[in-house]
Amino acid sequence: MSDFVNIVEVGPRDGLQNEKNAISISDKVQLINRLSNAGLQHIEAGSFVSPRWVPQMANSAEVFQQIQRHSNVIYSALTPNLKGFESALTAKADQVAIFAAASEAFSQKNINCSIAESIERFKPLIEAAQKNKLKVRAYVSCILGCPYEGDIKAEQVIKVTEQLLALGCYEVSLGDTIGVGTPHQTKQLLTSMLREFNTEQLALHFHDTYGQAIANQYVALELGLRTFDSSIAGLGGCPYAKGASGNVATEDLVYMLQGAGLKTGIDLDKLIQAGHAVCKALSRNNNSKVANAMEPSIREEA
Ligand code: HMG
Ligand code: MG
Repeated sequence: MSDFVNIVEVGPRDGLQNEKNAISISDKVQLINRLSNAGLQHIEAGSFVSPRWVPQMANSAEVFQQIQRHSNVIYSALTPNLKGFESALTAKADQVAIFAAASEAFSQKNINCSIAESIERFKPLIEAAQKNKLKVRAYVSCILGCPYEGDIKAEQVIKVTEQLLALGCYEVSLGDTIGVGTPHQTKQLLTSMLREFNTEQLALHFHDTYGQAIANQYVALELGLRTFDSSIAGLGGCPYAKGASGNVATEDLVYMLQGAGLKTGIDLDKLIQAGHAVCKALSRNNNSKVANAMEPSIREEA
């Protein structure tokens, strides 16, 4: 089994989409540049969704234009439909991500259509991406619980995952959107899913509302998964999932992986500095336990 773990940094998108305090384009750009300098190789840099639905992401085109690109880094964008894809293409995103849900109610609240309609909506987007040689990643939200429907059956998660892979997505990131899942539930769900899919087709996207995310990731790691989403300083949440707090902090994930002797290519000190700097810009607390525990000298350089 590979000893390299891929981290998809979603802070500039999932993190900042949910921040109450406005953040300038230049602060966003600095954050992304600091993340790439820390060694992250996949950064979800923004989203091309309706600015009426998520005003915090309205300036994603400018952000894509101003970041300093590294040839070994994938700068991806979240896109709900063909219109979003076209904006991502114009912005020269390296990859796009579509997002569906395992819960009907969440699908309606988040993207204003049913799960079946969302799959139909993704078809022309994926065709356009393939024509332009852009890879498409997918999310499935509410894998371990929905803020509107409660419990979600594994079969629902498997069905949507199957549909997204069949459409041509290279990977499905399984989202515990409201961070309710426990390690036991994660193990049960993944064990069922690994009967249908291989480890390379799946990634994990845990929000940390109930403090279970690191433990859930460890379970997934032991089952052979090697791609994890996380957010710098634990920023994040979905505006359409009441009570959802941030993703697991990238700093905490990297610390856990290093402790397991796994490689990430990330410089933890630089990562922590990036987290403290964005928290300063946002006037908010840093949600990463590791960042808060590390030496003050690292903090002061931020
Ligand atoms: P709708 O209102 O049904 O869309 O929204 P519509 O097609 O009827 O269009 C309405 C208006 O929006 C039109 O403008 C369109 O042009 C415009 P008007 O003519 O009225 O001026 N519009 C757009 N503008 C910019 N970019 C676009 C776009 N599309 C339409 N791409 C829609 C449907 C999907 C657009 C809307 O519901 C939406 O934008 N939803 C996004 C919600 C969102 O971003 N949620 C957070 C991200 S998901 C998440 O956080 C979960 C995740 O992290 C995984 C996890 O944690 O589980 C991924
Ligand atoms: Mg999320």
